[in-house]
Amino acid sequence: MRVQEHQNPVLGWLRTAARRQPSDPDVWDRAWDNRRRLVRSLAPGRSFIDVGGMFGVSGELAFLAEECGATRCVLFDAMDPTDEFAARHSRSSSGVQHIQGDLHDPEAIAALGTFDVVWCTGVLYHSPNPMFQLMHLRQLTTETMVLGNLVIPEVPGFDQVCILYPGIPKKMQDGFAEMYGGPERFPGMAVPFDATPNYAYANMWWGITPSAMRSMMRFTGLDIIEEYLYLPFCLDIVAKVGGESLDIYPPLDFCRERARRRYADTPQDQLPRWAEAQMDQFDNS
Ligand SMILES: C[S@@+](CC[C@H](N)C(=O)[O-])C[C@H]1O[C@@H](n2cnc3c(N)ncnc32)[C@H](O)[C@@H]1O
Repeated sequence: MRVQEHQNPVLGWLRTAARRQPSDPDVWDRAWDNRRRLVRSLAPGRSFIDVGGMFGVSGELAFLAEECGATRCVLFDAMDPTDEFAARHSRSSSGVQHIQGDLHDPEAIAALGTFDVVWCTGVLYHSPNPMFQLMHLRQLTTETMVLGNLVIPEVPGFDQVCILYPGIPKKMQDGFAEMYGGPERFPGMAVPFDATPNYAYANMWWGITPSAMRSMMRFTGLDIIEEYLYLPFCLDIVAKVGGESLDIYPPLDFCRERARRRYADTPQDQLPRWAEAQMDQFDNS
């Protein structure tokens, strides 16, 4: 056993973490019981959105939030509605809204408005740009966010480690496949990257440690209030709006507007030659 771990250090690192925090076969049931408990305590009288709540769960948490008295309930997901979601929706004459869109899409996020409670589990690791997604989740949040992720264990001697999965060697993939419950659900991480057109987000992109997760949340304007590390590979975090002030981030047009202002009063024939192309762009926009 240990020889195998010696030959595959990733497997050794993952197994060491699992030995430190042993889990039983009921761990996922307990995780979901805890998630339902959190929804029951957070949703009453609040607006609630579950981002990425379709696959495998068919809107269960959005329906639960509605039953608990949430004022507006939205399930936002890239996926089409499942048959199970549609059946449950009509069976219960539900008011849950399904809004289909991409969490990377600034237009889709702006159109959603804001919510007291933003729920998002199992989504961020599907993105090449998790901070960008987290900024969008934060933009939606006025009060509380629950962010859940498959995570990687801390790496001894290093804080805030993340692994970029696409392209990792087979030996690493095998280690992840063994410890994360098989290769089927994890292209990019436990088997090679799936490069089918439009399928990028079906892959796993980033393995994020809990310490990196915490820092990502701080720098997207969130204060952590509760953490649930159900097993070394899955972490849910409850956070409130806070953290670093978001005015550290310049607006997207900040630099462009500096150039526009710098040359605003300069006659065309006195512009530096290197600035002419950009001023032409401004004239044409
Ligand atoms: C692994 S499932 C997680 C399901 C459930 N939230 C859970 O915790 O088990 C990922 C979900 O996120 C959705 N998703 C992935 N990337 C997305 C994106 N960029 N925008 C919107 N939804 C996305 C998928 O369609 C899928 O329903």
